[in-house]
Amino acid sequence: MISELISKDDRFQEILERLNRKSVEDYYNPYRMFDWPDSLPEHRWWMSPELTTTFGTDIAAELSEEQLYRLSRFESINFYSLNVDGIRDLIVEVTRRIHTRGFEVPSEFFHHFIGEENEHMWFFAEFCLRYGNKIYRQLEPAGDGETWSDEAASFLVFLRILLFEELVDHFNSTMAADERLHDTIRAVNRIHHQDESRHIAFGRELVSLLFRDLTANGSQEELERVRAYIRRYLNYSFESLFNPHVYRDAGIPEPFAVRRRLLAHPRSAEFQQQVFRKPLNYLVKTGILPDRELGFARTPVGRGNA
Ligand SMILES: [Fe+2]
Ligand SMILES: [Fe+2]
Repeated sequence: MISELISKDDRFQEILERLNRKSVEDYYNPYRMFDWPDSLPEHRWWMSPELTTTFGTDIAAELSEEQLYRLSRFESINFYSLNVDGIRDLIVEVTRRIHTRGFEVPSEFFHHFIGEENEHMWFFAEFCLRYGNKIYRQLEPAGDGETWSDEAASFLVFLRILLFEELVDHFNSTMAADERLHDTIRAVNRIHHQDESRHIAFGRELVSLLFRDLTANGSQEELERVRAYIRRYLNYSFESLFNPHVYRDAGIPEPFAVRRRLLAHPRSAEFQQQVFRKPLNYLVKTGILPDRELGFARTPVGRGNA
């Protein structure tokens, strides 16, 4: 039972207390935090070019500098839109569990988490609506049709939250430090990165405990299904960065064909390994996955939001 594992674990409780204290100390008013100029300069990178989906491919080589800037603008709006969607889901999942049996100990942290995520969702949506006039809609992932034990279900919920936050953090920490980007863009990424370092620290601890619970109580057969699910999730969330509506808005012809070409390009498998470098280290170190192999090149391209 997870509540027993949590209440017997001094390390987890100490970390929780430290993170709760830090959330209170670092608390800020998000509605006063940022300068929101009326517009941001168009002839400039909106996202580090190395983080854009065409970087290092023949498609980027075919585009003018102006088109690359424009593409980075819409890719950044897609990235913040992914945040809005992902945060909605994780608020729902954490809200479902706060103050329920098994989650008594982390409930204090869940209050900070839900509050902070609500504020993150506000500033990401604000950015999209001010500077992109839209929030891109993502297609729902196809239902996996699997049934899970309670242990596996809780483990997968918090693992998905952690992996989503790790993916986002790779982008946030890179863009916060990138001097080519406008100050408002850097500030949004920097502030989010600061809050997420607490969420990620918490997520790694909780997911490790939930994994212990799963391996103690679950079957080998279910563990293998869990691992296959994690790889599918890592592929699905990576593919959601390649949004054909972004290519269309950037004025690139045949956006769906471009998406397929990009997903099949060897740079994409490399880019995926960069994006998930830290979480893959964690997954392999904890034994959650046996290796870093995601089989990305073998997944059928053109799925997801195409
Ligand atoms: Fe967040
Ligand atoms: Fe978070």
